Amino acid sequence: MKVIVVKDYEEVSAKAYEIMAELISNKPDCTLGLATGGTPVGLYKKLIEANKAGKLDFSKVQTVNLDEYVGIDYEHPESYHKFMNRNLFDHINIDKANTHVPDGGASDPQVACDEYNKLLASKTIDMQLLGIGGNGHIAFNEPGTPVDSVTHIVHLDERTIKDNARFFNNDMDLVPKSAMTMGIKNIMAAKKVLLLASGANKADAVFNTVEAKPTTKVPASVLQNHPDVTIICDEAAASKLTNK
Ligand code: PGA
Repeated sequence: MKVIVVKDYEEVSAKAYEIMAELISNKPDCTLGLATGGTPVGLYKKLIEANKAGKLDFSKVQTVNLDEYVGIDYEHPESYHKFMNRNLFDHINIDKANTHVPDGGASDPQVACDEYNKLLASKTIDMQLLGIGGNGHIAFNEPGTPVDSVTHIVHLDERTIKDNARFFNNDMDLVPKSAMTMGIKNIMAAKKVLLLASGANKADAVFNTVEAKPTTKVPASVLQNHPDVTIICDEAAASKLTNK
């Protein structure tokens, strides 16, 4: 694992942009694994600016997203379909047919998971972007998720529901209680992993991911077994690391 510590959120976004833009420039038909949540928004803003300035071309880029809520309509502003359109896809020259988000609205969610696994098996993710949950989750792989998991339905952890209530008028009752997520095995199959962490509420998760022994209790720690992981964190998220 390569750990890059920068000052603040703005610098996390700038460094992540540098790394992702280099990949897109070198491999215009790359496949990106993308993430939702508050953390990647700064990076997405920079990708949009670069596309508008003619510096980055997304016309051949393919994307696969990590996860989607089950049980809210796609048209809900907090569905991850809407999130991706609003924060990235609507503002860049990507072909929407090349963008993929799990089908959380499917009448049979298990069939939709199987379909998503088939899609993932047909692609190689060149770079998988990840945030990290305060409990160490990656995508919606909550503590205890087996390392050989593929896209599956999950019941969200109490802490995740609490953390995500900020997107739902701070009302935990409005947060969907289940989701569809790529599994750890799908994430580990990516050629490169880029994990971003910002803020003191991520400090324990970052410490457990980087310096503690890998355990499924902290899903991100399993990334220690991946050959090409870069973690970019700000000083607050890195504050518990002993080896900076
Ligand atoms: P956040 O979420 O970027 O909104 O902090 C990260 C995550 O839960 O994976």
